Amino acid sequence: MTAPVRDALAARLRAAGSVFAEDEADLLLEAGDGDAVRLRALVQRRLGGEPLEYVLGWAAFDGHRLRVTPGVFVPRARTTVVVEQAACRLHRYDRVVDLCCGAGAISVALLGRVGALDLVAADIDPAAVDVAAENIGDRGIVVAGDLFAPLPDRFRGLVDVIAVNAPYVPTGSIPMMPSEARDHEHRVALDGGADGLDLHRRIASGAGEWLRPGGAVVIEVSAAQAPTSAAVFEAAGLAVTVESDDEVDGTCVVATRPA
Ligand SMILES: C[S@@+](CC[C@H](N)C(=O)[O-])C[C@H]1O[C@@H](n2cnc3c(N)ncnc32)[C@H](O)[C@@H]1O
Repeated sequence: MTAPVRDALAARLRAAGSVFAEDEADLLLEAGDGDAVRLRALVQRRLGGEPLEYVLGWAAFDGHRLRVTPGVFVPRARTTVVVEQAACRLHRYDRVVDLCCGAGAISVALLGRVGALDLVAADIDPAAVDVAAENIGDRGIVVAGDLFAPLPDRFRGLVDVIAVNAPYVPTGSIPMMPSEARDHEHRVALDGGADGLDLHRRIASGAGEWLRPGGAVVIEVSAAQAPTSAAVFEAAGLAVTVESDDEVDGTCVVATRPA
């Protein structure tokens, strides 16, 4: 593709509000694959406000390209704090649950960092389950259902790490989210209830039954909500630390079942 075409596309994207217009232009041109009709359709979708990742059909996370489909949560860089804290507690072939897995970003990143795992990923949204199954392939199993309900019985009391990025946006804050999230990602991927921590409370009360002694829940949260989330897991009998990574602006609670 010629530089003038790329520059013209970047100018249109910039005028529509894109901050990284040149990068987006390159990615859209790559996705267009030399087909002008296809490129025009992709650009129209992007100019219409659709998240770039849905237009491209993939999102970058921890060095991987993950397939994403409209409505399924787009993995965010800050979630690598969960990957870091989970990976440093894992060895090859350990038992791992990626709870509220979305497109399976945490699973794919852990498989990349640790190697083969005995991995189960679970989500309540059938669209997320479908795309996670595609991303994880034969390296784990993907199940559909509410939190712990669809996990295999053989995992009960034996899980080394439950890695989670559950919805934690307070219901009242959803209207303030950027349009790309609010209008395009499924509500079930965002809404964490009145204070954002409804799912954290349910996960804290159920995790002890699935973790092995010494096993841990690693769960993403905002820095502001971290003390409340930590108290919830502590009240459930787990030993808690709060970890953060300034580079990706990520925070998580690590809650360990006493050995
Ligand atoms: C914030 S997204 C995170 C997705 C993925 N873990 C990531 O970091 O990219 C939260 C996910 O939780 C799922 N979810 C919401 N409520 C759930 C529930 N009760 N049981 C299982 N999954 C749930 C949503 O469908 C969504 O995919």
